[in-house]
Amino acid sequence: MHSFRTLLVAFAAGLLLSCSSQDVTEKQIDQLLAKMTLAEKIGQMNQVSAGGDVANYAEALRKGQIGSILNEVDPVKINEFQRIAVTESRLGIPLLVARDVIHGFHTVYPIPLGLAATFDPALVEEGARVAALEATAQGIRWTFSPMLDIARDPRWGRMAEGSGEDPYLDACMAEAMIYGYQGRTADSTSMAACIKHFVGYGAAEGGRDYNSTLIPEHLLRNVYLPPFEAGVQAGAMTLMTSFNDNDGVPSTGNTYILKDILRNEWGFDGLVVTDWNSMGEMINHGFGADRKDVAEKAVNAGVDMDMMTMGFISHLEELVKSGAVKEKTIDNAVRNILRVKIKLGLFENPYIDVEASKPVQYAPEHLASAQKTAEEAAILLKNNGVLPLKGSRRILVTGPLADAPHDQLGTWAFDGEKAHTVTPLKALQERFPGQVEFVPGLRYSRDYRDRFDDVVAAARRADVVLAFLGEEAILSGEAHSLADLNLKGSQSELLSALKATGKPVVAVVMAGRPLTIERDLPNADALLYSFHPGTMGGPALVNLLWGDVNPSGKTPVTFLRTVGQAPMYYNHNMTGRPYSGELLLDAIQPEAGQTSLGNTSYYLDYGAYPLFPFGYGLSYTSFAYSAIGLDKDTYKVDDTITVNFILTNTGAYDGTEVAQVYVRDLVGSIARPVKELKAFERVSLKAGESRTLSVKIPVKELAFYGLDGKKKVEPGDFQLWVAGDSASGTPVPFAIH
Ligand code: GLC
Repeated sequence: MHSFRTLLVAFAAGLLLSCSSQDVTEKQIDQLLAKMTLAEKIGQMNQVSAGGDVANYAEALRKGQIGSILNEVDPVKINEFQRIAVTESRLGIPLLVARDVIHGFHTVYPIPLGLAATFDPALVEEGARVAALEATAQGIRWTFSPMLDIARDPRWGRMAEGSGEDPYLDACMAEAMIYGYQGRTADSTSMAACIKHFVGYGAAEGGRDYNSTLIPEHLLRNVYLPPFEAGVQAGAMTLMTSFNDNDGVPSTGNTYILKDILRNEWGFDGLVVTDWNSMGEMINHGFGADRKDVAEKAVNAGVDMDMMTMGFISHLEELVKSGAVKEKTIDNAVRNILRVKIKLGLFENPYIDVEASKPVQYAPEHLASAQKTAEEAAILLKNNGVLPLKGSRRILVTGPLADAPHDQLGTWAFDGEKAHTVTPLKALQERFPGQVEFVPGLRYSRDYRDRFDDVVAAARRADVVLAFLGEEAILSGEAHSLADLNLKGSQSELLSALKATGKPVVAVVMAGRPLTIERDLPNADALLYSFHPGTMGGPALVNLLWGDVNPSGKTPVTFLRTVGQAPMYYNHNMTGRPYSGELLLDAIQPEAGQTSLGNTSYYLDYGAYPLFPFGYGLSYTSFAYSAIGLDKDTYKVDDTITVNFILTNTGAYDGTEVAQVYVRDLVGSIARPVKELKAFERVSLKAGESRTLSVKIPVKELAFYGLDGKKKVEPGDFQLWVAGDSASGTPVPFAIH
């Protein structure tokens, strides 16, 4: 145990070190800035996509007109880009080399929505670290990840890329990925994280990508901003502006969010980059007349670097000379850019060892980490007892995702090579040689067929049928929103035909979003939802189906019964007429008299509840919560709530439960959500084992922005739940005075 004095000295030394390294960095920036011409400063603010021959960029590099490149991943070319920038330009400032490393580089992990389903920040950090090791080994030092956009509408294809609908879970995943990418201490394997898309991009109206959003101040402050604030506090080195306008102001020209909140309130000292031509798109928004106008608006709003509009490199010099943009504004932007390059050590060592980069890619421990993550990311949504499967049997494997090495990787897997993907079919053939028959039935998820005679005949020969269904990777992700979330093509018909054979049918769904699978559930004896599970999805799913691993994933988003329910999310407001199980369509008599008395907020045809709520997931075992209690029944604002409970594994299998703690503020200066996730913990228990657990929640975590625009805890009555999902449990009351 260290003495207090030792700790004090260590702390002081650390503080001194960190201050001095900060001072050194700022001094280095001052010295460099003083040497730079205006043109060279503006060159740092220009980011270009650099596929193709390096020679095409040589002249611009020599003139110092490029500060960053993206989309070059060949380490030899990256070294050549850096060599020209460092040895042939006047000041030799190295480039920031960027790439969308969204859920792994070569070793592809489950899509971010699947990562969130693990509710395992430590494992997600490990995966981000692996991504950084593989990407930085090839010279990539900046990733455009994590995406922190809260998404409440599964029609939006980019729900795949984020952590779902809950701000607390999103913030936990943000911290994990930032620490993973950047490393707990900066070194040559540090890859600058980029929290994106700032802000509110996931609130696109109608779930249509790039669409306008209308997010009022309270919602912005209490739901959409908190994950980004957590990302800033975790030390994210960069941030990306979003394509959308919020209430008429495009984020890329929004001074309020980029300066007032990001810089002045949160003290962000990193680099702000636009999204791809999002500066230029402000012309389409009708927010700027031309490229010069939007360049002026963006830089004055607080943008540091322009991705692919070429607005800064073309117009800033003229704008400074005219006085429309102050040179101090340019200096601030260049400071933010140089600070990232210095933190990454690029001035000391801009090059990479190409030979050394090779064994890092797909290293066995990386593949093992990706497999473990895919195992934890899968959510068991139905099981009538058919799972876990026992022993090796005559297995029919069918469905368009059974052997789809490209689609299994999911969206934004640019550098995941499908040759390395282990599909469920491959994993089954390896584990059960000679016992697996593969009849795909459909070639890809949108494929149609009238009959399935071949598949049905094969099912009759089998003891168990495994149907791998879902979405091709291209049906989610950027610009890929859907208005119909049912399984595409003839997948539902395939499942129905399989069910009709009377054989046990297990469905596994790989998708980029929660599809509307209510009509498919009756045709499956069990259903495992794995989103897109990545390179090692096959072995992970086989381990889960045969019980080597007990499923522990939980839904990071609400699963709808029908797309007409969108948007639907757990942390909604109570409304003045909370649903209480009303009259449904079929119970309405013809010519029924009009009445609304006693009616509440729901759909006549689909009620008010989703198919599966947020935080839901089954296990091969069962868990019971008991003795839930608080250390006090009244708290002060500076207190910490201690929640005690006993969790028991009441089933026959060892398993892991994600215990969740929700809180409701019963009365506030504004209506408050029916409940909000405030803590969660993965608890692994042997069959029959009980454990007493304690979770601590500082009362300050219950603060929110109210009518006065200030974040504070409002005294009053509260309720707290401890349960295995957002729809279960009995509330425990407490008060804050
Ligand atoms: C895209 C995406 C953004 C990505 C960037 C660079 O349009 O919106 O998330 O990081 O361009 O590829």
